[in-house]
Amino acid sequence: MLAPSRRAESTLDRAAARVLRANWREGRHASGLEYGYTCPAPPRYRHMWHWDSCFHAIAWRLVDPARARTELRTVLRSGRPDGFLPHTVFWDAPAGWRRAPLYATRGFLGDCRTETIGPPLLALAWELVAAASPNEPGFAGEALGELGTHLSWLARARDPDDDGLLTILVPDESGLDDSPKYEPVYGRLTHDRLGYMLLIERGRRLRWDAHALIERYDHHVEDVWMNVAYALSLRALGRLAGEPCWARRAERVERALLERCYDERTGLFFDLAGRDERPVRVSTWSALSPLVLEGIPDDVRVRIVEEQLLDGRRYRAPVGIPSVSMQEPTFNPCWDRFRCWRGPSWVNTAWLLVPAMRRLGYEAQADRVVASLQAAIEREGFREYYDPLTGEGLGARNFGWSTLLMDLL
Ligand code: GLC
Repeated sequence: MLAPSRRAESTLDRAAARVLRANWREGRHASGLEYGYTCPAPPRYRHMWHWDSCFHAIAWRLVDPARARTELRTVLRSGRPDGFLPHTVFWDAPAGWRRAPLYATRGFLGDCRTETIGPPLLALAWELVAAASPNEPGFAGEALGELGTHLSWLARARDPDDDGLLTILVPDESGLDDSPKYEPVYGRLTHDRLGYMLLIERGRRLRWDAHALIERYDHHVEDVWMNVAYALSLRALGRLAGEPCWARRAERVERALLERCYDERTGLFFDLAGRDERPVRVSTWSALSPLVLEGIPDDVRVRIVEEQLLDGRRYRAPVGIPSVSMQEPTFNPCWDRFRCWRGPSWVNTAWLLVPAMRRLGYEAQADRVVASLQAAIEREGFREYYDPLTGEGLGARNFGWSTLLMDLL
């Protein structure tokens, strides 16, 4: 039994390394800054995305830790000295003229980065890459100040009501662009509709000042997944820096998720929309994501596994973990030209949720999720996402973060 799965594993590792190498870009930007990062999937996704790069570095650490370190240093230097780090950066090519107006940039054309944020996973990735860099012991400590400045910027700029939870301004800041959970909040301004242009224009008019935008408009969300990423990074920085203040900040986020987003009836965590913080009762993988947080009590986490991940009507699909509960009316397992995150299984979400299942003792069930994704990848290649019912590979090919499967095997 061992031999075939080992053979398959090493073939998969080699294929993953090929994807990462082919998608690697390095050079010097017109501003003089040097960069080295992995495109998610050229030609469609040829820029640098914040959370993609964090995941790429986590995968690179298994193949070539030096590239993992370069990618994270590049992410760190993509922002501003005040700690802001952008969602997308156009290092080696400007945004194409057709797409440029839709990127949340300062102007209409020609900016080198967006003014929006991505899921803040940098400190978490830094910790993992540092652990894989025994020959570079200085790496763990080299950016503590900047990582702290970044996490403090998020609290200052994106938690205007100071309740411990960060707010997103446009749906794709969470990385979950077209998730059906944003429809009740953004309506015709969602990512896949024409009104999205208006949302971007508003942001530009108010120079992406979150406080001003929140005061003026009601289209913003305290997003569960975004805050889970934030808490993970606060904890990681606490461990890297050996300073208890970061863990205390993580605990505050975890407490706020539990007290304000947790829905006792369904056992899910719901986003809070707008100024009056209306819970958005749509079941997507984000509603399960607090499973990964150590500060969430075990009984709450066990409920997520038992009642969601192991339930064949909800998230226990033949392949991977669906991005939307199969019970939701919006669930769509297939590819859709204008919409993603509406049902298909992604590898990065499995990378997040599977170890948490294992920690709670659900080894066999976790192995089943991994084996199903492994079979899909061996058959279909590293695709952007997979049909959770059939395993068909969908979206972009040679997709960077799908190589994270290496880390689950
Ligand atoms: C899509 C995904 C987003 C990702 C980006 C680059 O927009 O929805 O999560 O960061 O592509 O891969």
